[in-house]
Amino acid sequence: MITFLLNHQLVQTDHPAGSTLLDFVRYHRRLTGTKIGCREGDCGACTLLVGDFEDGQLVYRSVTSCIMPLGNVNGRHVVTVEGVNLPHLSPVQAALVEENGTQCGFCTVGFVMSLTGFMMTHHKPTKESGITAVDGNICRCTGYKSIERAITRLTDTMETVSGRDRLAALTQKGFLPAYFAQIPERLQVLQHMLSEKYRGIPEDHNVVLGGGTDLLVQRPENVRISRPRLVAREIDLQGIWMENGRCFLGASTTVTQLAESDLLQKMLPTLPKVIKLVSSTQIRNKATLAGNIVNASPIGDFSIFFLGLNADVHLSTRSGRGRTIPLRDFYTGYKQLAKRLEEHLTAISFLPPEEGVVVNFEKVCKRTHLDIASVNSACMIKINEDGMITHLHLSAGGVAPYPKYLEKTCQFLIGKKPHEALFKAANEVLQQEIAPINDVRGQEAYKRLLIRQLVFAHLQVALPDIRFV
Ligand SMILES: Cc1cc2nc3c(=O)[nH]c(=O)nc-3n(C[C@H](O)[C@H](O)[C@H](O)COP(=O)(O)OP(=O)(O)OC[C@H]3O[C@@H](n4cnc5c(N)ncnc54)[C@H](O)[C@@H]3O)c2cc1C
Ligand code: FES
Ligand code: FES
Repeated sequence: MITFLLNHQLVQTDHPAGSTLLDFVRYHRRLTGTKIGCREGDCGACTLLVGDFEDGQLVYRSVTSCIMPLGNVNGRHVVTVEGVNLPHLSPVQAALVEENGTQCGFCTVGFVMSLTGFMMTHHKPTKESGITAVDGNICRCTGYKSIERAITRLTDTMETVSGRDRLAALTQKGFLPAYFAQIPERLQVLQHMLSEKYRGIPEDHNVVLGGGTDLLVQRPENVRISRPRLVAREIDLQGIWMENGRCFLGASTTVTQLAESDLLQKMLPTLPKVIKLVSSTQIRNKATLAGNIVNASPIGDFSIFFLGLNADVHLSTRSGRGRTIPLRDFYTGYKQLAKRLEEHLTAISFLPPEEGVVVNFEKVCKRTHLDIASVNSACMIKINEDGMITHLHLSAGGVAPYPKYLEKTCQFLIGKKPHEALFKAANEVLQQEIAPINDVRGQEAYKRLLIRQLVFAHLQVALPDIRFV
């Protein structure tokens, strides 16, 4: 039984845990304000808010409900547009109306939900962060300028309230319906009631489901009729911590949690740049790290990023038999992994870059947001006082059937002093090491040129005084 708060109501359902939240709210609760566009997480028309406690505070995250497993909202608060409607227009709705931010209206509910969640969660909302909050919402009519004006109006005029009283304050200001003030308490009671035993949804373990942003796009029917193991909510697979000098990232850490981690930002200052280029806010709010690694897409951004950091993968069986292998040995062929069927990922770990080590990530795609790479690449490089490359790890996506660790190129460059001719020779090694194919993301020749440019871009960041052509 899945139990959660839907707007102001407590809902209990025995609908399949792998069915979508969208279908449940629209077809079983007749909450038809939520729209269906692409059903692939791309358009944002189906955006809802999911509230849960984070560090003791109730936080709402926007998600695309068309690829949100129903089982993943067990014990949480789900908010549809019907749940934020008031007798008058809310400040978000009013800003969109007054700035002509809606025409046919098909996308509008999605924008309202993303922006409402943004205003509920951000302590200091700015125009820029408001625009980022709708990076997963597509509008075919307005050309976005009117929506940008609505966001500016909202962030200029809305006072924000931070801290634990935020929901109560927002209800008093007429931003949210009054029932929100009681939600923290009601959710606490619900979560207390859902003891581990009760919370457990029967599962057959054949399907492991994280955020669902890959599986519910590729095999929604299979997932719906299976009884998936819902790893996104497993406590043991959460968290970001240091152990024996290594940084560990729990398998079910979401992309948003990676982005918000102070520990990671200190260690990897380039990570926010990487994360900004990954999918959209609604996808990042639920997509897990393990989902990206296990999906084994040849252009998976986190597979490529953590290959560049020479990370390890930690695996375990349900009975707790664990082992660790380097990520570079994890991919053995197209969508083939050095992972046994009974194993799941528990974490990945890496050694924090030492002082003087440069970490860089590059991604080329057709548009900035909501696009996967044609070619991507990551690099970790150290050059000593004598100007010699002492450490180097390079990875490349889109140039092989799986995320590729550029072993031969690294071996060629380590121990050498950089100069222009050396990199021309390194490019020859690189080109022999890869095997790109012609596909919708580009022709082979284009990808060969791109990876050369991306590897040069890494080196340019590490060696700003040398000119690469
Ligand atoms: C609109 C959209 C945009 C996207 N943009 C990008 C992008 O820019 N860059 C990018 O790299 N990806 C992108 N993706 C792909 C996807 O979001 C990521 O790969 C994401 O990290 C997958 O995580 P998930 O938890 O949702 O995976 P799921 O769909 O839940 O699972 C994916 C696979 O991982 C397995 N799995 C999950 N957790 C575990 C575990 N702990 N142990 C073993 N197996 C496990 C599942 O069984 C499944 O085979 C996009 C997807 C969508 C829908
Ligand atoms: S319907 Fe398009 S993102 Fe869900
Ligand atoms: S108003 Fe028509 S799609 Fe946005």
